[in-house]
Amino acid sequence: MGGRPSAYPHFHDSLFVRVSTCNLGGGIMAFEKNILCIGAGYVGGPTMAMIAHKCPQYRVTVVDTNPERITAWNSDTLPIYEPGLDEIVKGARGRNLFFSTRIEQGIKEANVIFVSVNTPTKTFGAGAGMAADLQYWEKTARQIREASQSHKIIVEKSTLPVKTALAMERILTATANGVRFDILSNPEFMAEGTGVKDLESPDRVLIGSRETPEGIKARDELVEIYANWVPRERIITSNIWSSELSKLVSNAFLAQRISSINAISSLCEKTEADVTEVARAVGMDSRLGDKFLNASIGFGGSCFKKDILNLVYLCRQYGLDEVADYWDGVVRINDYQKERFILNMLGAMFNTLAGKRICLFGFAFKADTGDTRESPAISVSRRLVEERAELVITDPRALENAEEDLADVQGVVTFVEDPYEAAAGCDAIAVMTEWDIYNTLDFEKIYETMRKPAFIFDGRNLLDHQRLFEIGFNVFPVGKRSLTHF
Ligand code: NAD
Ligand code: UGA
Repeated sequence: MGGRPSAYPHFHDSLFVRVSTCNLGGGIMAFEKNILCIGAGYVGGPTMAMIAHKCPQYRVTVVDTNPERITAWNSDTLPIYEPGLDEIVKGARGRNLFFSTRIEQGIKEANVIFVSVNTPTKTFGAGAGMAADLQYWEKTARQIREASQSHKIIVEKSTLPVKTALAMERILTATANGVRFDILSNPEFMAEGTGVKDLESPDRVLIGSRETPEGIKARDELVEIYANWVPRERIITSNIWSSELSKLVSNAFLAQRISSINAISSLCEKTEADVTEVARAVGMDSRLGDKFLNASIGFGGSCFKKDILNLVYLCRQYGLDEVADYWDGVVRINDYQKERFILNMLGAMFNTLAGKRICLFGFAFKADTGDTRESPAISVSRRLVEERAELVITDPRALENAEEDLADVQGVVTFVEDPYEAAAGCDAIAVMTEWDIYNTLDFEKIYETMRKPAFIFDGRNLLDHQRLFEIGFNVFPVGKRSLTHF
């Protein structure tokens, strides 16, 4: 069976009976460790694929309650698009990487269990719209407790409110069956679209543990796993609460930079300053750095907003209202930026969008992913439909998700793969995602097929604005002077 990928989940499940052994390269070889990951999503799948790829001596199994997801991980079409991931998964799958729905059996056999289930914003009850919804995570803790018969190291991979490990410890030790659990926090810092590169060469790996002898022993065991490919100086350790909090704070700081430059973009539009020039001048200060200063339509993705809201909620719970208000401002500026984009469109197109056809270039929350969770394109689409515009949406990877996101929208929305076809007959193009391919299009040809006057609203400052203007477009970038023929 060594090295043979399979499209059949039950084929991999049969491996569970041979605990820690597998036929590798013709001979039976015992694995050094059995690693399990609960949650086969955007984080669980790629992180475990990287461990399996780098560490053939470990057996890595990823389980999920969603059988379709598992079937997809076992097929030729993986459930997520991430550059470079196919090769890694296909190289390790069936050798030392397995995807399965048999959670209980996986727990029984594992020495180390990563928990990478989703932790979305709560939509009901106390803390609705702010706090993290920990129901999936808590269910997992209970499942681990029920199925475990031997010592386990439990690794929090999901992003969680600070002090969650304490609750996990309490749940796991709530029965007196004598099984010991050591809880570690090991938040994930990968970004989508660059996930494989980020996992292969992370800026840092953070491991938080209890500062007891058992906690430190467990921490060192996890350090050894990463040390198979990550330089030791990039593996940092801390107390468990610092680790949990560092993840929320990292995302908050990253999002804060985007909101900072986006806030300045609105001032640039009023003053004829150019936000790209301002970002360049500011970013060359080595104390600040030049990354994450691209003004945009606003940040999206499944985590920034949810993690900041979670931080805000935590601060309020501890009575730190001023601190909560400060971080809440990052989300408010992001919402403002999306609304500003719509109002700019409305103003530029003679204060009515009713009956106008608008083509959205891109729907994913960023380039190189098919993920549309919290994509600014979702709220922009809804607002445009409210204004009675007709939408044509194109994206190289995210059309299926886009259709799901807008399934309930009452209005004219069509989904077209080819950008030339999508733009034909439209009054305006709005760039939502910075896909490279949009820069390679023949805009003269596109201009010919559009209604006149033709508009481009570049929500990513991706395109060559001067050239578009020369072709005949009226061009509206973010944080820069607009180029119009009126
Ligand atoms: P996801 O929704 O893509 O995947 C989570 C998976 O967990 C789903 O497939 C779901 O079916 C499964 N699941 C839920 N409850 C389960 C249970 N009891 N047993 C087994 N499986 C269960 O989520 P994601 O994007 O992978 O994020 C997971 C966590 O990682 C979140 O806390 C997120 O904040 C964090 N994170 C995400 C990213 C990212 O790039 N997406 C990066 C860093 C951290
Ligand atoms: C982000 C973080 O970068 C990761 O470190 C973190 O692990 C992850 O969240 C998480 O916890 O989920 P991700 O959301 O995948 O990763 O992608 P980013 O590259 O951070 O982009 C987020 C959003 O900000 C995108 O909509 C992107 O287009 C936007 N962005 C980014 C800007 O508008 N301007 C910038 O300069 C950079």
